[in-house]
Amino acid sequence: MSPSPSVLFVDQAAEIGGAELSLIDIVRWRKGPQTVCLMQPGPFAERLREFSVPTVLVDASGILNVRRDDGLAAAAGAIPALLRILRGFASHARRHDVVYANTMKAIVLAALSYPLHRRPVIWHLRDLLTAEHFSAGLRMCCSLLPAFAIRRVIANSQATAEAYRRIGGRSPVEVVYNGIDPAAFDAIDAAEARARLLSETRLAGDRPIVGVFSRLARWKGQHVLVEALKSVPDLQAVIVGGALFGEDAYEAQLRSDIAAAGLEDRVRLLGFRRDVPVLMKGVDIVAHTSTAAEPFGRVIIEGMLAGKPVVAMRAGGAVELIRDGETGVLVAPGDAGALAEALRQFLADPVEASRMAEQGASHARETFGVRDYVLNIDKAINAALSR
Ligand code: UDP
Ligand code: GLC
Repeated sequence: MSPSPSVLFVDQAAEIGGAELSLIDIVRWRKGPQTVCLMQPGPFAERLREFSVPTVLVDASGILNVRRDDGLAAAAGAIPALLRILRGFASHARRHDVVYANTMKAIVLAALSYPLHRRPVIWHLRDLLTAEHFSAGLRMCCSLLPAFAIRRVIANSQATAEAYRRIGGRSPVEVVYNGIDPAAFDAIDAAEARARLLSETRLAGDRPIVGVFSRLARWKGQHVLVEALKSVPDLQAVIVGGALFGEDAYEAQLRSDIAAAGLEDRVRLLGFRRDVPVLMKGVDIVAHTSTAAEPFGRVIIEGMLAGKPVVAMRAGGAVELIRDGETGVLVAPGDAGALAEALRQFLADPVEASRMAEQGASHARETFGVRDYVLNIDKAINAALSR
């Protein structure tokens, strides 16, 4: 076996979400030949090129319009288009030792084309296969993916691994937590970041600011923060993130909720940003507001690395990232009242808030390093080849 197997990574996204950022961390730091196979062009492809990572494009437009809440009929309707692209994909796979699927449509492509490429497949499962996130039909499709093709499943949290087992997934599954590089946070001075944030947003310099840093989507729960702000009068907010995956109606609703609540003077929507570490360093509190269980939640670890007190929703992977009351605070998903109370507590007791922030920062550095993350992924790749 080669010490550095050649890997074909596969990811369906055009835009850059957490799954894509976590894949960038692997391909940036991993040693060994590799290619990223994409299903559509866009900002993710461009970002990979910035890091000189080789990419190939398999035109999968015929299956990309199947959505996670579609039923079996829609999935079945996409089969003819899928068959047409399997051969194209397999020709790329055959030039590598291992196929590594980073998203849901990527694993469908990798597993179904297995008879044509016969390369061991790894599925990096970054989604929770639960009724909250996926239709029964799509969960059933996932449970039927052939175990002989999928050598290993890497889950981004215990919660994700457990959901995979619960749908009857039969491949061996192990948990590898994402790693986040603290360097981008350490390079920024908090006072300077605050000054930049104030000058950009024109928010009041003498009042606190909470930030949320997730793509705009109903289940990411930015509306819960808006609701909470109504009962935390002094608190201002920045909502950072774009409607990456067709959630424009949600963005419009959020804007109208903010206007209806008379919150326009203290809430700013900043859209998708590449300078999240700078923005995070500039706020006082980082909030994670997902109303459905979060598979992992990079933003939680990032908030800790920025040295901020973090409040997150008590469900899914988030529960594995925060020790409630020690490294942050957990509240019930979707509970605006509980979120408001946690925010008020942070503001009322800044000493306690900083203590949690410091403990969170040490915990994030110790447990979620990029080096361990990439080492563990490499081990899984080698293990998949040696079976
Ligand atoms: N992010 C970003 N720009 C934004 C908003 C978010 O780069 O405007 C990043 C954020 O810093 C985090 C990732 O997007 O690294 C989101 O990952 P997470 O795991 O929290 O959620 P996902 O979107 O993958 O469900
Ligand atoms: C997915 C999940 C998110 C996780 C990310 C990286 O996008 O929604 O919770 O942090 O993958 O694994």
